[in-house]
Amino acid sequence: MIAYKEKVEACVQQIQTLIDGFQPEVGIVLGTGLGGLVEEFDIKYDLAYEKLNDFPLSTVESHKGRLIFGYFNGKKIVAMQGRFHFYEGYDMKTVTFPIRVLKLLGIKALVISNAAGGINPKYNKSDLMILNDHINLMTANPLTGTNINEWGDRFPDMFEPYDTQLRELANQVVKENNLPVHEGVYAAVTGPNLETKAEYKYLSIIGADVVGMSTVPEVIVAVQMKLPVFAVSVVTDLCYEGALKPVQLEEILENARNAEPHLSKLIGGIIQKF
Ligand code: HPA
Repeated sequence: MIAYKEKVEACVQQIQTLIDGFQPEVGIVLGTGLGGLVEEFDIKYDLAYEKLNDFPLSTVESHKGRLIFGYFNGKKIVAMQGRFHFYEGYDMKTVTFPIRVLKLLGIKALVISNAAGGINPKYNKSDLMILNDHINLMTANPLTGTNINEWGDRFPDMFEPYDTQLRELANQVVKENNLPVHEGVYAAVTGPNLETKAEYKYLSIIGADVVGMSTVPEVIVAVQMKLPVFAVSVVTDLCYEGALKPVQLEEILENARNAEPHLSKLIGGIIQKF
């Protein structure tokens, strides 16, 4: 555990020397099919994950592996173009390594995006959903094992994991731009297979509006570190009765890409108002 803390701190130091004292205010995690958002950034530093000590590597083709520092809507940001998933075989400490690093780099808020299956029958493909809560169905948790007290509590409270002020800013942006955005509950599963018909039905019964394979470990770590977090899902496939059908990864990626203009407006707007 000490070794983990030292690895995170060494990676932070390495990055700080590479970015010449650039101080990002907001961190952004770009989910499946959503890496194109970086085209809107004024990029100052672009660090490949493989150059960073102990940083994991993306094994999924739809995820690039770059840590990008620059400006978005006038604010200093750092963006992960490519994240890590439990289904890639990484343990939860590795999945959330970059979130620890971003927090120690001094970000004041974290904005997370992901691709997710739509469980709520009111949702359409490429709609956005702001997370107001989650259900963790993953079999592992990034906080198990010896707690590093300097980073946060042993038993962090999860009454309001998604920052209410950031959600308020988001709702202003939604209204101003008339965006197709819902608010709801994200269920996190390990994947990598998609769900069966019975599993989608179960997810609906337990109160999930969307389902995906990421985000929740990152949110748990952010909350533990008292880092305000905002998360948004892009609905990439419809998983309710009447709409459910076999789905290909290409379709998921395409529906994610189609949502990019809205996602960019939403995330860009929040960052501008932050
Ligand atoms: N299930 C789980 N994860 C997903 C899905 C889904 O249907 N779509 C995109 N990510």
